[in-house]
Amino acid sequence: MSNLFDPITVGNISIKNRVWVSPMCQYSAIDGVMQDWHAIHYGSLITGGSGLVMVEATGIRPEGRISPQCLGIWTDQQAQVLGELPNFAHKHGVKMGIQLAHAGRKASTAAPWLGGQPLAPEDGGWQTVAPSAIAFGSYPEPRELTTVEIGQLRADFVAAAERALFAGFDVIELHVAHGYLLHEFLSPISNQRTDEYGGSFENRIRLLIEIAREIRVVISPARALFVRLSCTDWVPGGWAIEDSVELARELKAAGVDLVDCSSAGTTPDAQIPVGPGFQVPFAQRIRQEAQIATSAVGMIDSAQQAQQIVESGQADAVMLGRAMLGNPRWPLQAASELGVEVPWPSQYQRGVLRKP
Ligand SMILES: Cc1cc2nc3c(=O)[nH]c(=O)nc-3n(C[C@H](O)[C@H](O)[C@H](O)COP(=O)(O)O)c2cc1C
Repeated sequence: MSNLFDPITVGNISIKNRVWVSPMCQYSAIDGVMQDWHAIHYGSLITGGSGLVMVEATGIRPEGRISPQCLGIWTDQQAQVLGELPNFAHKHGVKMGIQLAHAGRKASTAAPWLGGQPLAPEDGGWQTVAPSAIAFGSYPEPRELTTVEIGQLRADFVAAAERALFAGFDVIELHVAHGYLLHEFLSPISNQRTDEYGGSFENRIRLLIEIAREIRVVISPARALFVRLSCTDWVPGGWAIEDSVELARELKAAGVDLVDCSSAGTTPDAQIPVGPGFQVPFAQRIRQEAQIATSAVGMIDSAQQAQQIVESGQADAVMLGRAMLGNPRWPLQAASELGVEVPWPSQYQRGVLRKP
């Protein structure tokens, strides 16, 4: 039986607790380069008590960004500036991850506060690419990737992982969720290719498995490799939890250390039963049936709920998103609520919350 604030070893890395920050786009980069906003935003999360902070979806290529303001890691300079984050995190005993991403047919959109809609080329947008030339809802039709381009994409993911290692990140997470490119390859809704990357289950998972294997070789056992999956498309005929369990077994064999269990994003028609902890059963099932570590995410808001998920063995860890935006010191507050003593940053010790 584990507690939320017990340390955990994932792969070969040791993380001080099981309450982690979920990746969250900030749409605040310039030419893919991190800015002051990121330093201060991630700084507050790093000092908030989480064991692991995951940097938002970071484009492995310029056209893989969701918006023109998304972070990138296709140049050494971008990686060098990002390196400030793990450098600061390590001084506070916190592990730092980065989510490597390509947005596929959902790229080239405006930031949410600028409307979030697809951008035309004259407004700074670009031609999107995908496994097949099938649009997401009313988005523009993407261009189908050639087999040669898929090989290049694989190389770009691996090069991005190498840069992330150079920058000092402890965890590389592949973004295979929310209807972005690697998820688009998995789902029969968005992948109708007739070459070796489409059709059967084995063909649809091929690119992800190839990337995972190659990154595993590059990153050595000293760092951890996570995969964030959309465990179901929530539509008949789409990717389903049974597929995710089978894929998780393959990912484990490819050297992946943990599956981060999210859902949805391939189709705007999905009926999603959103509610407290609604994705936790996916983390539980994959953990049990594929025998791989999992994290649960989605509407986990209270200390008791988070503790119960970890204690009952539904997941090895929880990731929190919006609750961390509302209160970046959520983990310190949760420890206090659960009556667990955890060290606060020295600078904040006079503010330690005591149980009444
Ligand atoms: C502002 C914002 C940005 C997000 N960006 C990402 C992202 O970059 N990558 C990702 O996998 N999920 C992203 N998500 C989803 C969150 O990581 C998380 O899975 C989701 O918000 C559900 O968790 P919550 O209920 O704790 O917020 C984002 C969510 C928010 C609110």
